[in-house]
Amino acid sequence: MKEVVLSGIRATGNLHLGNYFGALSKFVRMQDDYDSLFFIADLHALTTHPDPKTLHGNVKNIMAEYLAAGIDPERATIFVQSDVPEVSELYLLMNMHVGIGELMRTASFKDKARKQLGIRNDATEGDIEQEIIGTNSNKRVNAGLLTYPTLMAVDILIQKANKVPVGKDQEQHLELTRRFARRFNSFYGVELFPEPENFNFGDHAVKVPGLDGSGKMGKSEGNCIYLIDDEKTLRKKVMRAVTDEGPKEPGLPLSQPVENLITLMELTSAPEVVQHYRDAYADCSIRYGDMKKQLAEDILKITLPIRERILDIRNDDEYLARVARMGAEKARERAAATLAQVREIMGITKFY
Ligand code: TRP
Repeated sequence: MKEVVLSGIRATGNLHLGNYFGALSKFVRMQDDYDSLFFIADLHALTTHPDPKTLHGNVKNIMAEYLAAGIDPERATIFVQSDVPEVSELYLLMNMHVGIGELMRTASFKDKARKQLGIRNDATEGDIEQEIIGTNSNKRVNAGLLTYPTLMAVDILIQKANKVPVGKDQEQHLELTRRFARRFNSFYGVELFPEPENFNFGDHAVKVPGLDGSGKMGKSEGNCIYLIDDEKTLRKKVMRAVTDEGPKEPGLPLSQPVENLITLMELTSAPEVVQHYRDAYADCSIRYGDMKKQLAEDILKITLPIRERILDIRNDDEYLARVARMGAEKARERAAATLAQVREIMGITKFY
């Protein structure tokens, strides 16, 4: 039997190159060798209160983007998280075995809570805790944000997934998932849930940098190239990417902003091209304008065909509905089987 791979992307906006190289392209390569499930996490998106109309549109967009990037609904199950209500029920049941403390210590929670409450960067854990439970503020951190890792664990465990391809930022959530699986199994003396692992193709996890010279590409950073960007927008973004003032003397190591652009080139351009610009930096003959033109060209070769397909698929409501229905049916069938086992194990069964 094939191992089960499952992954999801939160429905908070269009997909960008970071999603593409970090997740989507891996999904596409995995769909033949694994029993594959890919979903759109619309319930997780609710933790940050998106505008309902926007959320609704995003779900459909991301489905179109999955398909345009090459996920094949005949080979993989593509579904919307909220189409599987069994997930919400198992989330309630699983929360009975999850500690408030371990959730509060999760890095993603501390980070989001701090931002939502407007607490300083250097606040201690104690300060954050005080703000959260204190009554002297009318701001609050919603309980859904706290239990985000429970919901994610349930997405994975309800499908009994073995492999979960995710980026580095999700490692801690995966670690919690394994812990919850072990805890459940040992509490009830069963071997129900496998412990899922992250997945990369041999090499290390790719970290896709943004265009602003600093960290990784991210929706909230405003430094993204989107798969849906048109040619003009994309070229403009790349031409405006942050660089440095040029190497001052031969043989210097790349500065951070230039290294970021080279990393993007490594993902999109031919190896000789990358080497050419590395050499040009080293001997101070580099011209950033040329380099960016080349980079934009090579990115467009990847994104433009995907963009065309997104536009086509997005207009095909009937096709999208068919894919979503088919995926929901398959995902639900499996989820319902696991949920029935959990109910039985926990004693939530009918007496009549
Ligand atoms: N938390 C993930 C993210 O923000 C999205 C996600 C939700 C997910 N449920 C999942 C990823 C289950 C993998 C498996 O990227």
